[in-house]
Amino acid sequence: MAEDKNLLLSSFSWEERIIIALDVSTRTQALKLIDLLPQSRIFKVGLRLFVAEGPALVQEIISRGKEVFLDLKLHDIPNTVAQAVGEAAKLGVRMITIHTSGGKEMMKKAVEVLNSLPRAGAKARPLLLGVTVLTSQSSEDLEEIGLPTDPASQVLRLAQLAVDCGLDGLVCSPQEVEAVKRITRQKMVLITPGIRPSWSTQDDQKRIMTPQEALQKGADFLVIGRPIIAAPQPDKAFWLIVEEIKSLSDGKKKN
Ligand code: C5P
Repeated sequence: MAEDKNLLLSSFSWEERIIIALDVSTRTQALKLIDLLPQSRIFKVGLRLFVAEGPALVQEIISRGKEVFLDLKLHDIPNTVAQAVGEAAKLGVRMITIHTSGGKEMMKKAVEVLNSLPRAGAKARPLLLGVTVLTSQSSEDLEEIGLPTDPASQVLRLAQLAVDCGLDGLVCSPQEVEAVKRITRQKMVLITPGIRPSWSTQDDQKRIMTPQEALQKGADFLVIGRPIIAAPQPDKAFWLIVEEIKSLSDGKKKN
């Protein structure tokens, strides 16, 4: 990866390792959540919100001192993806996702574009993250589209391609983190959605884990949406999760 991973992680507190998925459709709802969660550092803007509110909202979130994970999961011909990645970088986002199943040439071109960007002062270059197999996809779903039925083997295959192409990190299910880490070693940032605290509903996620389990397995950042943003009191849900995570790190210190 372009940055030193340990250096990068050392600049994040435990609560900042929770990335809030702003899966809402309006600027008002998004900004309300950001105001409710002042301790959160990175907010994920996905397809829904980006389609609804566009780059202006991304810039507004950044102007409020927050970082944006632009999760558009780009997958197109190499040139188109590389150009879109370049535009996202110009917006000043911290993380961008592309689908690793788009293939080597697509990933390499995206890396090239980021490497060729002029360094704007101390501003960090966005981290280019590869999406492997969506956490909502089960073996049956993969079989239906003609892929190997074991999500784990497909994830590892795609993770190796991402390593070969020089991506900065990967988005994968917490259940695959351990195996992925053996391939990426300490070189890549691992980000896991599909997080469900024991007290929350599973929704459409299939390969899930609790926040503590995911961190224990080696996740560096957790993407959490509905368990926080759809909770009656998002701030309470956030702090409940932070407390659970902190009890884990306290336990580690004692051992
Ligand atoms: O609400 P929930 O916690 O399930 O939200 C998870 C978020 O992570 C969603 O924004 C979803 O798009 C995203 N995501 C995912 N699986 C991936 C990559 C991203 O669920 N492999």
